[in-house]
Amino acid sequence: MKKILDIITAKMEKAFADAGYDATFGRVTVSNRPDLCEYQCNGALSAAKQYKCAPIAIANAVAEKLDAADFSMIEAVMPGFINLKLSDSFLQAYLEEMRTAPDFGVEKIGAGQTIVVDYGGANVAKPLHIGHLRPAIIGEALKRLHKFFGYNTIGDIHLGDWGLQMGLIIAELQERQPDLPYFDEAFTGEYPAEAPFTLSDLEEIYPTASAKKSDPTFAEKAHTATFELQQGRRGYRAIWQHIMNISLPDLKRIYDTLDVHYEKWLGESDADPYIPDMVADLKQRGLAVLSEGAWVVPVAEEADKKEVPPMILVKSDGSAIYATTDLATILQRMQDWAPDKMLYVTDKRQNLHFEQVFRAAKKSGIIKAETQMEHVGHGTMNGADGKPFKTRDGGVLRLEQLIGDMTDFVRAKVVENKIVDDSEVEATTAKIALAALKYGDLSNQPTKDYNFDIERFAAFEGNTGPYILYTIVRVKSILAKYGAWENLPIQAPANIYAKDLMLAITKVGPALESALKTSCPNLICAYIYELAGAVNKFYHETRILTEEDKALQAGYISLIGLAKNILESCIDILGFSAPEKM
Ligand code: ARG
Repeated sequence: MKKILDIITAKMEKAFADAGYDATFGRVTVSNRPDLCEYQCNGALSAAKQYKCAPIAIANAVAEKLDAADFSMIEAVMPGFINLKLSDSFLQAYLEEMRTAPDFGVEKIGAGQTIVVDYGGANVAKPLHIGHLRPAIIGEALKRLHKFFGYNTIGDIHLGDWGLQMGLIIAELQERQPDLPYFDEAFTGEYPAEAPFTLSDLEEIYPTASAKKSDPTFAEKAHTATFELQQGRRGYRAIWQHIMNISLPDLKRIYDTLDVHYEKWLGESDADPYIPDMVADLKQRGLAVLSEGAWVVPVAEEADKKEVPPMILVKSDGSAIYATTDLATILQRMQDWAPDKMLYVTDKRQNLHFEQVFRAAKKSGIIKAETQMEHVGHGTMNGADGKPFKTRDGGVLRLEQLIGDMTDFVRAKVVENKIVDDSEVEATTAKIALAALKYGDLSNQPTKDYNFDIERFAAFEGNTGPYILYTIVRVKSILAKYGAWENLPIQAPANIYAKDLMLAITKVGPALESALKTSCPNLICAYIYELAGAVNKFYHETRILTEEDKALQAGYISLIGLAKNILESCIDILGFSAPEKM
């Protein structure tokens, strides 16, 4: 469906042309004075300069030419604005089309295109901590938003499964159990299927080993183990596989509670096989050059305002680094999936890293000139006091703990307010807690830092996830009391609250599209907050279930039903859903 702004701009352009002026002056915008009008056109002011006459004269002449059936108000006002209000019949027809079209008539501008969203960034064998919340939540929302617009979407977690943490665990394990066959280089038999450690062992082994990094002998061992693992030492690969087998289900479990799901669970290790040929090729084509013993890809550009240092491809000790792996991953993605776009969601402090990698990918032809590469760098989540989030003993808070704290807080409310039967407390709590957590995050612009405040995020009133859920649940309960409502047509607005609600409904497409184009899910939050406000206002000011005029009532029901469907679709994009009762 065409957007309202485009429809009325076309009408306005025609009116300018019909009045004898250049049509391009007919651009219409959403009014910045909603008390005066809904839409406005300021074109007469610019036209006046070209035609050397009074703007109001042009505005009057153009207003004359507009079709009165489309507008309930057409006003030319000094010095030369054209103020507009949509007619009831226009709005009714437009909403009826939205109601009956798939996905509210929003145009599928991503159809035929593939996007890879790289988000989450979990590291194997290290527990997820609060720093992993934002990339998971924002990435999932952006992926779902692209899917809504028709993109073929591939979410890839890009696991950190190849780094020093693996060497640390291997080295620690060797100190504890040196007799295991994995450490015997002469061993040629089959390694045990069962891992020599459990998940809770692993959760203890890694931090213990990590704390020993300052011991040079141990650190050396861990580095050697990492190197040998990457070179393919058989026993170490077997330990690595055990770690993966134990760690992945646990990561999946936590991502599941966040309703975050990946199409691909590829990791740094999967990019590894691509590295040797890629490096050889870059060297051979002279794109990689030697600098102080390391191979680097110079990526500075003339227009740079800040210095962009070369991307390090191979360190002087011969090892590949984070950037090498990311470049090789791009190669793999282009070969396997040929995406049109790649979007990375990580902490914004990785911005330079991605700038270097993207440039190296472009320069070397690993991506096409038109492949869109975007880094969505997010800010930090701080504690309610605005200070960095720490546990009482100064450690990093586990993500699971954070989710648990929010869940406990919400559960207490659900129980206290006797919202649902005992058997439904957990399911309802989980939905409300997830909405509180995700909306609390997503309602902030991704690049900004924000403070995590359980009480504020979980409040049932105000600009919160639970408030949006509450609005949906309220409408659902009215609809349930009314009965079959799905096929009731939209009617002309019966009062100003209905009209405001209808106007809010028409903005769903533009709001989602702006969120898509700027990679800002917060624009979806702002939109649904406005829509939920319009729903609640309408509900308060209008008798719905007690309305005696059945035809009028059917129109009310159809309208709130459409609003509810839009709210539900939007929260689905944001990555949460509403319970039945609240
Ligand atoms: N594992 C990385 C980290 O913990 C994040 C990975 C982000 N994605 C990427 N393609 N580099 O910082």
